[in-house]
Amino acid sequence: MKKDDQQRRDMALEKANVLMEAMPWIHKMNGRTVVVKYGGAAMEDPSLCREVIADIELLKLMGMRVVLVHGGGKAINQLLTQLNIPVSFKNGLRVTDDATMEAVSEVLIGKVNQGLVWSLNEYGNNAVGVSGADGKTLVCRQVDPDLGHVGEVVKVNTGLLESVLENDYIPVVASVGCGPDGLYNINADIAASKIAQALHAHTLAYLTDVDGLYADINDKETLISSLNLREAKELLESGELTTGMIPKITSIVEALESGVHDVRIMNGTFPHSLLLECFTDAGIGTVFYQE
Ligand SMILES: Nc1ncnc2c1ncn2[C@@H]1O[C@H](COP(=O)(O)OP(=O)(O)OP(=O)(O)O)[C@@H](O)[C@H]1O
Ligand SMILES: [Mg+2]
Repeated sequence: MKKDDQQRRDMALEKANVLMEAMPWIHKMNGRTVVVKYGGAAMEDPSLCREVIADIELLKLMGMRVVLVHGGGKAINQLLTQLNIPVSFKNGLRVTDDATMEAVSEVLIGKVNQGLVWSLNEYGNNAVGVSGADGKTLVCRQVDPDLGHVGEVVKVNTGLLESVLENDYIPVVASVGCGPDGLYNINADIAASKIAQALHAHTLAYLTDVDGLYADINDKETLISSLNLREAKELLESGELTTGMIPKITSIVEALESGVHDVRIMNGTFPHSLLLECFTDAGIGTVFYQE
C-alpha cells in the first residue's frame, strides 16, 4: 500500500474510533434532558457562537431533549453604558431599576434570544424562542427591594417547554420572568437551574468564559476538575466565592439537591467543549456530582 493511502486509512480509522468512544455516552444520554446555559464572553464572538450552536444541534440529533437558557450580561452592560444608565451588582446580582429592566428585556428577548434562534435554525429549523414570561414559565417574586426588578423564581410552569420539546423543537429561553407587577430580571444561571429541576434534567451545563471553577481565580493552576455536593455546599458556605460564581454555585447546589444528576461548568470559548464534556471520558471543565 502507498504511504498516502495508509495515511488516509489511519485518519479514517481515527474518526471511526472517536465515534466509537462516544457510543456508550450517546446510548446513556439518548432521550434524556440536557439544559445548557450559555452566557458571558463566550457569546460575544460570532465564530465561537456558531461552534456552540453546532454542538447544541448535534446533542439534539443524538437524541437528547435540549433546552438552551441564555444570559447576556455583557451585552446588557454595553447598552446600559450607551444609555448612561449606571451598572451595579450586589452579591453577583444586577441591581435592576425600571430603566435597567427595559434594557434587560430589550437585549435578552429582543436581541440575544432572536440571534440564538436564528443561528440554530440555520442548522435544523428547530428552535423556538421564548422568555420565562411566555406561558408563565418562570413565575417570580421580588428578591429584595434594594435590587429592584430582580426576580426569585417561585414556580416553574413546564407546560410550554414540554410541548415545545414534545414537538421536537429546542426551546431557547431568555432569563426574564413574570411577577405580579410585570417583568423580572432573573440571573440566567438560576433560571437554568430552576428549569433543569422542573424538567427533571439529567445534566445541566454552564457554558461560560472561564475553564471552570478555580480554587483561586487569580491562579490558573487551581482549576477544580470535580466537586461533590457536600464540597460544593462547603464552598458556598465558606463565603469565599465572588461575583458571577455566587449565583452559579448556589444554583448548582440546588440543582443537585433536587435530583439533577450532574452539573458542569465549561469554557464556551474553547472549541466543542460541550461535546468533550458530554461524550468523552476526559471532561475539561468542572463537574459537580451528587456523591
Ligand atoms: N472561583 C472562580 N472561578 C472561576 N470564575 C470565577 C471565580 N470567581 C469569580 N469568577 C468569575 O465568574 C465569571 C463568570 O460568571 P459571569 O456571571 O460573569 O458570566 P456568565 O454567567 O457565564 O454569563 P451571564 O452572566 O451573561 O449569564 C468569570 O468570568 C470569572 O471572572
Ligand atoms: Mg452570570
